[in-house]
Amino acid sequence: MNLCVGLTGGIGCGKSTAAKLFQELGAFIIDTDEIAHRLTRADGRAIDAIRAAFGDRYIAEDGSMDRAGMRELIFSDGLAKRRLESLLHPMILDSAQAQLRQAEGSPYVVMVVPLLLGSPGFLRLVQRILVVDCDESRQVERVRQRSQLSEHEVRAIMAQQVGRMEGLRGAHDVIHNNGDLAGLAKQVAELHNIYSALCRNNGD
Ligand SMILES: Nc1ncnc2c1ncn2[C@@H]1O[C@H](COP(=O)(O)OP(=O)(O)OP(=O)(O)O)[C@@H](O)[C@H]1O
Ligand SMILES: [Mg+2]
Repeated sequence: MNLCVGLTGGIGCGKSTAAKLFQELGAFIIDTDEIAHRLTRADGRAIDAIRAAFGDRYIAEDGSMDRAGMRELIFSDGLAKRRLESLLHPMILDSAQAQLRQAEGSPYVVMVVPLLLGSPGFLRLVQRILVVDCDESRQVERVRQRSQLSEHEVRAIMAQQVGRMEGLRGAHDVIHNNGDLAGLAKQVAELHNIYSALCRNNGD
């Protein structure tokens, strides 16, 4: 099996941007946000289970999950959040494992998992943990620019995530994404060299 690096970090820290840079260097990317999105669109495998658990109210006209409605619900209702997670996580894990099997032949895999540190199933799939970190003020600013959420809403999401310091302690590697895109790309290139060397050694 080739090297699988779990890429994680708080909302808006730059996970997707870093993953894209790894991809340009030849890494195979598995993106669990994308998997979750696919599962919850109109023809998605999770729709029947979501309808059964939450009712038609959370299914939009077009048959996909009502994302805004669901976001609002799980924001204020911890039980609903856990119910949605326990329904989606096994499907996401399944799909990620299937993609991992397709990655055979790629030098290494970068698996983007926002909640990696709290997910034993995903931790079992990765040999190395990479955390993308940035200052909280930058995090708030980047998420706000992208999503129209208020500072209050962004901070509430941040508060629900694994603490920043706790996340850093769990990491083998850290990207500090406080600078510009060139600074991010440079760190990605350095890690790419390390990961490429690691999987060369594995292959011997
Ligand atoms: N070094 C950087 N310089 C400038 N902008 C950046 C940098 N890194 C990321 N961004 C911008 O910040 C925003 C958040 O980045 P990105 O989407 O990669 O984060 P993420 O961790 O994947 O977020 P999410 O948790 O929501 O999936 C994006 O609009 C991205 O273009
Ligand atoms: Mg992302």
